[in-house]
Amino acid sequence: MSKPKIAIVVGSTRAARFADVPTQWIAKIAKSHADIDVEIVDLRDWPLPFFDEVASSAWAPSQNEVAQRWQKKVAEFDGFIFTAAEYNHAPTAVLKNAIDYAANEWNKKPAGFVGYGSVGGSRAIEHLRLIAVELQMAPVKSAVHIAWGDFLAVRQGEKKLEDLEHLNQSAAALVNDVAWWARVLKAARAADAIAGEAQAA
Ligand SMILES: Cc1cc2nc3c(=O)[nH]c(=O)nc-3n(C[C@H](O)[C@H](O)[C@H](O)COP(=O)(O)O)c2cc1C
Repeated sequence: MSKPKIAIVVGSTRAARFADVPTQWIAKIAKSHADIDVEIVDLRDWPLPFFDEVASSAWAPSQNEVAQRWQKKVAEFDGFIFTAAEYNHAPTAVLKNAIDYAANEWNKKPAGFVGYGSVGGSRAIEHLRLIAVELQMAPVKSAVHIAWGDFLAVRQGEKKLEDLEHLNQSAAALVNDVAWWARVLKAARAADAIAGEAQAA
């Protein structure tokens, strides 16, 4: 079986975003993991409208062309690491909208989070974990929380994420968790597919 493919989803899109810094850092760490393939998926490249379909794509095929391509893109992956900016104690609207624009494509795949902000994006991440459960994902325990002191120091160029050992340890644990669940669930989905084909024959 091929290596699980993991997307690093960049969860904020504003021009002045900080997200690029944690994205590049976690992508480098994830790419150094021997058992997974990694790709950055930037929501800036996916100009989805605010959700405007007759139903979730779990129930009715989406009409919007970007949504259709987005669902195919999500389907390519076996697991996800989201950068989690926190806007008013919640995930960004752009990330929630992108999540809503796919459905079955998220199912039975792990979700991990790299949060940042006053409390390391904790509140946004807890929201995202609940959303992930509704999408039949496996939100992993390990997470990265870049809390206020580190966040400000990195944003002002006084520190680099690479030099912050506690965050590098969290990142390694997160990537290990996502890689483990991605491998196990990829095999389980493949076994389900074979069983389904056998039943249909
Ligand atoms: C609309 C808005 C609301 C915010 N609310 C919070 C918040 O509730 N908690 C927090 O820690 N930071 C909050 N912040 C500060 C963000 O953590 C900070 O701007 C961060 O850089 C946002 O991520 P981004 O730069 O990738 O967009 C907020 C920022 C914005 C723009």
